[in-house]
Amino acid sequence: MIEASHLTKYFGDFPAITDVSFTAHRGEILGFLGPNAAGKTTTMRILTGFMPPTSGTASIAGYDVVSQSLEARRRIGYLPETVPLYTDMKVKDYLHFMGTIRGMEATDLQRRISEVVQICRLEDYYSSHIAKLSKGFRQRVGVAQAILHEPEVLVLDEPTVGIDPIQVVETRQLIKDLGGEHTIILSTHILPEVSMICQRVIIIHEGQIVAVDTPQALAERLEGTERIQLEVVGPTGQVVRALRAVQGVQDVTFTDLGDGRGIYSVMSRRGDEMRIALAKTVVEHGWGLLRLGAVTMSLEDIFLRLTTTEEA
Ligand SMILES: Nc1ncnc2c1ncn2[C@@H]1O[C@H](COP(=O)(O)OP(=O)(O)OP(=O)(O)O)[C@@H](O)[C@H]1O
Ligand SMILES: [Mg+2]
Repeated sequence: MIEASHLTKYFGDFPAITDVSFTAHRGEILGFLGPNAAGKTTTMRILTGFMPPTSGTASIAGYDVVSQSLEARRRIGYLPETVPLYTDMKVKDYLHFMGTIRGMEATDLQRRISEVVQICRLEDYYSSHIAKLSKGFRQRVGVAQAILHEPEVLVLDEPTVGIDPIQVVETRQLIKDLGGEHTIILSTHILPEVSMICQRVIIIHEGQIVAVDTPQALAERLEGTERIQLEVVGPTGQVVRALRAVQGVQDVTFTDLGDGRGIYSVMSRRGDEMRIALAKTVVEHGWGLLRLGAVTMSLEDIFLRLTTTEEA
């Protein structure tokens, strides 16, 4: 449904993105995860036909975003980083305006406006001026205009940025509900967000793709490394030192639970023998071992590893 092939974009002699290739399948929610200046917005602007790539190609439903821009754009709904809302307009007038400039027919448009207002839960604000809406509700108006012309593909640039936690939950749910029917690509720099919403994630860093996988598989990809958690009763300083001294341990952090208890998080080489060695160390010192187990690495762990390996 979305096909990007070797996209490169230069601003002057600065490469904002280099050789970016990926595919998003029909009905898939694809996450674009990367820190500031990674090239997320640049890629999305190319996909939505706002600017051409310096080299490479992209297509939406088979239509090239440059040479068949009109056909491609008809199939895309775009929520830009900053939504250009006309704040002196009422929600209903704004949606009407957006539909009209996209060439929607009057009867079709009226039906569709009531649908998107329902989907985006804007019923109570239908006749409100956009200027009076909170950031979260403005964002919903942004989503409403993006889906108005019933596009097959949605490109959402940081859809949850700057809105409060409750509305973030609702917006994420809205996006999930829109998936399945739409192919969605969304950008974010919030790591847990992609595991919550997306089926696949592309990690982009300094304009280059460093990984493409399911959030699950990415977590498993850190072969050779494992995070083991131990709950121990013992003198924290000494416990940390003893654990650090175990061969194969890369790093130890701990949380003090009080009463001489602590939770120790150990990054180590993978393998049963590591857990055996850690347990042995605790017991041989005469400390109490309450719990020991491997924990799945967070996307944050993975992201840091992938990007730091790239730089190294
Ligand atoms: N119009 C432009 N002119 C010059 N440089 C640009 C332009 N647009 C983007 N850049 C540069 O390209 C790089 C990628 O920017 P982009 O906006 O795509 O990043 P991003 O991943 O969306 O970041 P953020 O998370 O901050 O939104 C940055 O270094 C940025 O300064
Ligand atoms: Mg951006």
